[in-house]
Amino acid sequence: MKELSVDHLLGIKYLKEEDLHLIFETADHFKEVINRPIKKVPSLRDVTIANLFFENSTRTKLSFELAEKRLSADIINFSAAQSSVKKGETLIDTVNNILAMKVDMVVMRHPNPGAAEFLSKNVNACIVNAGDGTHEHPTQALLDAYSIREKFGEVAGKRIVIVGDILHSRVALSNIFALNMLGAEVKVCGPKSLLPKHIESLGVKVEPDFKKALRWCDAVNMLRVQNERMDKSYFPSIREYTQLYGLTLPLLKSLRKEIIILHPGPMNRGVEISSDVADSEQAIILDQVENGVAIRMAVIYLLAAKLIKPEA
Ligand code: CP
Repeated sequence: MKELSVDHLLGIKYLKEEDLHLIFETADHFKEVINRPIKKVPSLRDVTIANLFFENSTRTKLSFELAEKRLSADIINFSAAQSSVKKGETLIDTVNNILAMKVDMVVMRHPNPGAAEFLSKNVNACIVNAGDGTHEHPTQALLDAYSIREKFGEVAGKRIVIVGDILHSRVALSNIFALNMLGAEVKVCGPKSLLPKHIESLGVKVEPDFKKALRWCDAVNMLRVQNERMDKSYFPSIREYTQLYGLTLPLLKSLRKEIIILHPGPMNRGVEISSDVADSEQAIILDQVENGVAIRMAVIYLLAAKLIKPEA
């Protein structure tokens, strides 16, 4: 059986192209499973997974939980807000206490960049990064690339533009790594203040003109402005941001070609994307959410396969 080159999923940058293809092929199988009347398989009956969320989440948290349930894993859920972290317990102590209950895998979202990698070096469990601050969100990038592959047949050679708050976006960084690895052409577009200074060193081009970027691309990934990660204002007003970088139906129609529209969620309707665009045929936002379950099933299944080695 083919296996992943890594023992943890900490970020796309640690993966190889073959890993991405293996995850996609495995997700193809699980997507077929979750569309059957009986959506559950017994694959991970002997695996226990802890979902640790130190930061808010709707899609990622529920998607991991559902993926684990569909694989028949035992799961426990931990939310920092109701935990002893509030009493001063460290991350390592918290996780080691959870692991003492015979947990095999930890899925963690944390506000600090590098938290997942730090944990992987300090505790004895398989770690899956569900988003670490402004660093990486590997399963989001996998489900985004998988959704592009599903729409076009392949990612290689496709032109993808990522628009908006690239500076604070773990989704953007993981997408850039994944799309480049798969052979797509990637451009980023947004206010200069929201583009990292050396972004081109990651193998992407900057297109400051939103309309030009849209005319160039096959798919656009619209990002939310992450106000919660900003300590100051990065552009004069939301209205001006929307005028320059908001995706509206008249703008989409003016392209006179079909592009597909992705959004990782949560959306700010009327800011980076208008409601009629978000709900249009060209938007694959809910397909992304559906694919997220299959992708997370694939990731967990492939990582668990490295834990459960057959006895000699
Ligand atoms: N896309 C994403 O990470 O959404 P949540 O924050 O709701 O998990």
